[in-house]
Amino acid sequence: MTEPSAPALPKAPRELREQRLRRIGEGIGKVVYASEHWVVKRERSSLETAALIVIYKLLRKAEPYLPASWSRRLLEKPSRRVRLMRVMMQGAMLVTPKSVWWTEQVRDVWMQYQKRNVRGERLVEQHLEGTGLVPERITFPPLRVRLMDWPGWLTVSEATERVEATLFQRLAELAQDEKWPEVELWLNRFMELRQKGWSMGLFSVDPHLKNFGVTGERIVLLDAGGVTNRWADIDRRLDFEDVVRQPHIQLGLGPILGACPDLAARFDRRWKDVVNRSVVRHHWPSR
Ligand SMILES: Nc1ncnc2c1ncn2[C@@H]1O[C@H](COP(=O)(O)OP(=O)(O)O)[C@@H](O)[C@H]1O
Ligand SMILES: [Mg+2]
Repeated sequence: MTEPSAPALPKAPRELREQRLRRIGEGIGKVVYASEHWVVKRERSSLETAALIVIYKLLRKAEPYLPASWSRRLLEKPSRRVRLMRVMMQGAMLVTPKSVWWTEQVRDVWMQYQKRNVRGERLVEQHLEGTGLVPERITFPPLRVRLMDWPGWLTVSEATERVEATLFQRLAELAQDEKWPEVELWLNRFMELRQKGWSMGLFSVDPHLKNFGVTGERIVLLDAGGVTNRWADIDRRLDFEDVVRQPHIQLGLGPILGACPDLAARFDRRWKDVVNRSVVRHHWPSR
């Protein structure tokens, strides 16, 4: 195994030592806090992650009965409402026998998330660190940082370069300002980045646009979870891609590209032309 290339600093950057960090993003397994230039990640406890999985499962079931915009927003963005639901759900789970909520389905999602993370982080460390395709990562002696919304301290010994925005945020802002050529430029850059990954023998089975960040003119991968080099995983994802009719909806771009249907259609066509077995295999390195 290659040594991780993250530089080990004798001391953490000053802004991490001196500032209280603000929450800027969260996923199913991590909450991300930032100072001006750096982010640190807090791993959620297993109960916290399980509570989120249960909530998402319930929301998906309830989706047909909820107002469309409401349920979609809840599912796509861990908002304050989801946070509140999670806290309540965690409370309920603490007083309910585990056998009630730790169903096979919840366990499968949880295990899959853990497995994808472990594999993805190893692959990113081995193949992508230092390539400019992921944000810079630094390590330092353990430091207790203060967080704005979290009691006490969080001990961290690594931090990652903060990107300007997630790709999803950047596209949403540009669409808001009706800067369609720039939206298309970033979507094309995204397609190019994916193909570059394939030519390195890496494929992301979770290509959600919040898992990618924008820095300068580059797109970088933020979330290693879902990166794989195993054809069994890739095949499963490509089978799914084969039946997706409107990839932009699948990627959560519905509300963003809704005002520009031509662009949405062009993107869908390009995606279909590129994200399929023969193109992935064409890029894949021969061993
Ligand atoms: N380097 C970064 N700079 C800015 N925001 C980030 C960075 N890394 C993660 N984030 C934000 O935090 C969110 C959750 O991080 P992620 O690693 O995707 O966690 P999870 O594995 O729980 O999905 C991301 O979707 C993004 O919004
Ligand atoms: Mg993520």
